[in-house]
Amino acid sequence: MSELIIEYPVCTTDGRELFPAQTALSDENLKKMISGNQSTIRTGRFLDFGSIKSDILEFLDQDSYLAVFDNKETRQRLMVRMMKAEMPLPVLESIYFFKEYDFYTYRHLLTVFALSTLLSEYLVKDRISIMDGIIGAPSHDIGKIAVPVDILNKKTPLTPDECMILKHHTLSGYVLLCYYFMDPANITARVARDHHERKDGSGYPRGISIDDMMIELVIVTDIYDALISSRPYRPSSYDKRTALEEITKMAEKGLVSWNVVKALINQNRKKRVSIGDCLVSLEKRGVPPPDNLYGTIADHNICKSKK
Ligand SMILES: [Fe+2]
Ligand SMILES: [Fe+2]
Repeated sequence: MSELIIEYPVCTTDGRELFPAQTALSDENLKKMISGNQSTIRTGRFLDFGSIKSDILEFLDQDSYLAVFDNKETRQRLMVRMMKAEMPLPVLESIYFFKEYDFYTYRHLLTVFALSTLLSEYLVKDRISIMDGIIGAPSHDIGKIAVPVDILNKKTPLTPDECMILKHHTLSGYVLLCYYFMDPANITARVARDHHERKDGSGYPRGISIDDMMIELVIVTDIYDALISSRPYRPSSYDKRTALEEITKMAEKGLVSWNVVKALINQNRKKRVSIGDCLVSLEKRGVPPPDNLYGTIADHNICKSKK
């Protein structure tokens, strides 16, 4: 592991400090933290927790996703697949906590999970890899549990300090998931750490290109869902066409995976073809929503990734 520094303390939801501020995220420190987890790991099915299953079904019926999940058989098959996802109870509790604390993030985690599961069927060859991989999607933003709610819900540009705290959700999430899964190589922890990376190295926290289909998949579904959903920092969301054009631009610039973008565009079309035959128009006709504060920051214009 490179010399990443945990800038802010990372605590469990019951207040136990796992990493103090200004600690190196070294293999040694991670091992020490994981060995301190003496609790018996009790797991539960994601869809069986609270109202998660009915909430997912409700979100997929909303206008922004209805066209993607229009086929009943596909939807049922996905629910069966998602039903198999199990995770430690504290992870389930943390995700469910967002339902009260930050409903946008709660909805986002559930829809990114469903969309990633759907696209993985076209992009990941073997079923075991799909099952291993999709489990990282619903917990990718779990580190936001360490971000003050007034920063998450802020309607005006973030200050540089607030931007740093928000960006730290990648590393907080990584630490929390390493601890709960007791494994630093766990896919859920890696998805949380790497879902804001970009292929040209312009992302964070490490500024590296990720070569892992499941993580690349969450990178794209994360951006897409953020664009088409309401957010505190803009009065209206992107329409689906404009959102797909924005992501196509990102693929053209070499920031995200073309294959995942093609799968997403294909799934938004009435007539679907195999990914290899999916032709993408490079024409841009959509109009981004007005007064969008995404990527802006108070005083300076340096916060490029605020999701
Ligand atoms: Fe994120
Ligand atoms: Fe996200």
